[in-house]
Amino acid sequence: MAEALLEVSDLSRYFTVGNRKTLKAVDGVSMTMRRGETLGLVGESGCGKSTLGRTIIGLYEPTAGTVRFDGANVTAGRYRELALRMQMIFQDPYTSLNPRMKVSDILAEGIDNHRLARSTADRSKRIVDLLESVGLSQEHANRYPHEFSGGQRQRICIARALSVSPDFIIADEPISSLDVSIQAQVVNLLQDLQSEMGLTYLFIAHDMSMVRCISDRIGVMYLGSLVELAPSEDLFAKPLHPYTRALLSAIPIPDPKEERSRRRIMLKGTVHSPIDMPPGCKFALRCECRKDRCLADIPRLREVEPGHFCACHDV
Ligand SMILES: Nc1ncnc2c1ncn2[C@@H]1O[C@H](COP(=O)(O)OP(=O)(O)OP(=O)(O)O)[C@@H](O)[C@H]1O
Ligand code: SF4
Ligand SMILES: [Mg+2]
Repeated sequence: MAEALLEVSDLSRYFTVGNRKTLKAVDGVSMTMRRGETLGLVGESGCGKSTLGRTIIGLYEPTAGTVRFDGANVTAGRYRELALRMQMIFQDPYTSLNPRMKVSDILAEGIDNHRLARSTADRSKRIVDLLESVGLSQEHANRYPHEFSGGQRQRICIARALSVSPDFIIADEPISSLDVSIQAQVVNLLQDLQSEMGLTYLFIAHDMSMVRCISDRIGVMYLGSLVELAPSEDLFAKPLHPYTRALLSAIPIPDPKEERSRRRIMLKGTVHSPIDMPPGCKFALRCECRKDRCLADIPRLREVEPGHFCACHDV
C-alpha cells in the first residue's frame, strides 16, 4: 500500500453504562488509510461507526490501542498538535453550528485559535476564500446559521472544517439529514475539494449505493468490530462476510428482471447487545453459515485475498 497517513491498531473504546456494565462500542479495530483515499465505513445503527471516528480524532480517549497519524502517536498526548490536521463533519449541520454566531465568526474561530492569519486583511480574505470554496459568497458572511438552508449549513460546516487546512476529514453521515436533491451537491463538493486539496476522507454512512460511488475502499462494522475491509468494487463484486452479503442483498437493483431473480438475505435473530458479549463471533446468532467453532473462537480480521480482509471462520 502507498504511504499510510493513518494507522489504527487494536483500537477499543468502552463505555461504562447502567449498573457498572461495560459497553464495547469499539472493540479491537485495526486498519490503515493511505493519503488521499476515501474509506467508507458502513454498518447498522449502533455498531460503533461514530465512536470509532471520534476516538480516531481524539474526541474520546481510547480504552486500548493506538492511533498513529502521519507517523505521530495521537493517543500519546499529541492530539492538540495534530488537531489542526484532523477535522470532523457531523450529521446534523444545524446543531453543530452555534446559532448565536455569525458565519464569519464561526469560520474565524479556528483561524484565530491557531493564529493562522497574518493580519486582519488576511483573516477576512481567508473567510471569503473559504465561503467561495464551498460555493457560498462574501454576502453570506454576516448571516446567522438559521438564515440558511440545510445544504448551505452543511457547506458552512465543511468550510469550518477546512478553515484550519486539514489533511484528514472524518465525515460522519454528512448528508443523511439533507434533502435527497441536495445530497448529491454536497457529495460532489466534498469530492471536488478532495481532488483540489489532496484530502483523505473517512466517510461514515448508511447508504451503501452512495458509499460505493465515493469510496476507494469500504469497511463494514458489526457490533464494534471491523468484519470486512476491501476495495469498493471487490466488496460489491464478491462480498465475503455473511453480514456484508446480507447488507448488500438488501440494496434495490434498478433492473427489474435482475431484481426479481436475486436472493434477498433476511437477517434473522436479534442483534446482540454490545454489553457483556458472549465468546466467539458476534454475528453468530444471526448467521446462516454458523459452525460450532463460531460460538467459541473470535474470528480475526485477516487478508483473505490481496487487499481484501475478512473476519470469518467460514471464509
Ligand atoms: N457516550 C456514550 N455513552 C454510552 N454509550 C454510548 C455512548 N456513545 C455511544 N454509545 C453506545 O455505543 C454504541 C455505538 O454507538 P455509535 O454512536 O458509535 O454507533 P453508530 O454506528 O454511529 O450508530 P448510528 O448509525 O446510529 O449513528 C451504541 O450501543 C451506543 O449506544
Ligand atoms: S465466524 Fe461463523 S458465525 Fe461468524 S460470520 Fe463467520 S460463519 Fe458466521
Ligand atoms: Mg453514528
